[in-house]
Amino acid sequence: MFVDSHCHINFEGLAERMPDVLAKMREHQVTHALCVSVDFETLPSVLALAEAHENIYASVGVHPDHEDAKEPSVAELVELASHPKVVAIGETGLDYYRLEGRTIADMEWQRERFRTHIRAAHATGKPLIVHTRSSAEDTLRIMEEEHASVPGGVMHCFTEPWSVAAPALAQNFYISLSGIVTFKNAKDVHDVARRVPLERLLIETDSPYLAPVPYRGKPNEPAYVSYVGRFIAQLRELPDEALAQATTDNFFRLFKIARPEAGE
Ligand code: NI
Repeated sequence: MFVDSHCHINFEGLAERMPDVLAKMREHQVTHALCVSVDFETLPSVLALAEAHENIYASVGVHPDHEDAKEPSVAELVELASHPKVVAIGETGLDYYRLEGRTIADMEWQRERFRTHIRAAHATGKPLIVHTRSSAEDTLRIMEEEHASVPGGVMHCFTEPWSVAAPALAQNFYISLSGIVTFKNAKDVHDVARRVPLERLLIETDSPYLAPVPYRGKPNEPAYVSYVGRFIAQLRELPDEALAQATTDNFFRLFKIARPEAGE
């Protein structure tokens, strides 16, 4: 069985076909999914899915790309994270990919927002879901300055080279790989996929984005995390079942979710 550690099934394209999304998960032996929040405005739709479906979990956070979203405070994040299905803080982090004429110095609001999330993770004991794009050095530095290693978390949709994976692992973070790992030209991601200790590896879809081969360019959904898992198993020359078991165990351990009873 596989688990999707990061998806956005509350987004348009997936939300309106939820019965089918869940049926396809069952068909592909994808047992659980974590629906990740990107802002407070859409958080109710994330929580509603987690409340309606036993195998869907939620997070609370404001994405670094959502500049005009309501700015979260530590107290608000802590309060919202008390929901019984909320298992993580995020997604948060830094993204300097679209500076649009601004300098990195201008992005202080992102760094402040990231620090707020790390402080909320400390206060709640819940792990962080970290997004980093074109900003690895600052991401790692702020994680270190804010002592993100406790409670730790996951570097999601990881696309950085091993030189970034290694210090993230040293800070007690997991590495989560998306469908990008199945892309032929993703050499850095292939290298990371081979080298991350198995007990620190997670898999995700980040759906509706980034569908793995053979669905590249098409809408993505949690069922397709099985293609991500099988591809990594092949890279590591492991049986699919071993990769599935390890990444599923890691998911339950990191997000402190009680394991379902056998047969459930
Ligand atoms: Ni995401």
